[in-house]
Amino acid sequence: MQIRRLVPSDAATYQTLRLRALGESPTAFGSSYEEERNTPVDAIARFLAAGTNRYMFGAFVDAELVGMIGIDREQGRKEAHKAFIRSMYVRPDHRGTRIGRRLLSEALAYAASLPGLRQVTLTVIAGNLAARTLYESAGFKAWGVAPAALLVDGVLYDEIHLVHHLKAT
Ligand SMILES: CC(C)(COP(=O)(O)OP(=O)(O)OC[C@H]1O[C@@H](n2cnc3c(N)ncnc32)[C@H](O)[C@@H]1OP(=O)(O)O)[C@@H](O)C(=O)NCCC(=O)NCCS
Repeated sequence: MQIRRLVPSDAATYQTLRLRALGESPTAFGSSYEEERNTPVDAIARFLAAGTNRYMFGAFVDAELVGMIGIDREQGRKEAHKAFIRSMYVRPDHRGTRIGRRLLSEALAYAASLPGLRQVTLTVIAGNLAARTLYESAGFKAWGVAPAALLVDGVLYDEIHLVHHLKAT
């Protein structure tokens, strides 16, 4: 298994995995399959080409993209000490083999390499035990719950907020 940053030439492969993730796990993401299914590939290529404040890492098994994680740094001068994790997904046929853990560890290592970055945040839907256990075992701590934060197919879901504090640089 290999992890590397996704680049514009990965756009079509990334989109396939992203749409699969949104379709399979609708409560795991803030976005939806319906909103993203018609996104042009060149728009995705531009998204993957974004500068140093936005990274998307992919996990490849036998040259096939099977997992991903995104990390974005906040932009404003009062918020640039924070980054947030998003779009974490591992294909069901590759789960339980530590790919998620390695993706998270890659994203955290990248975060730790950014001068001035002090914390990494993320949210997870209440009841997503696999993701929450993984995040907490990597050092994230839950600090609050946003009640009824997501509405998916008529059902409201609470969202748990977690933070991982990094050493000051
Ligand atoms: C969450 C997810 C990314 C985990 O990926 P994975 O590659 O299967 O995870 P790993 O094999 O690296 O497991 C890492 C740790 O997570 C925890 N974990 C993983 N699956 C678990 C499960 N089904 N139940 C409880 N804990 C679980 C364990 O602590 C595990 O550590 P261990 O191997 O030492 O026991 C994957 O289940 C997934 O893509 N889910 C759907 C999308 C999603 O929920 N994304 C997160 C949005 S916030």
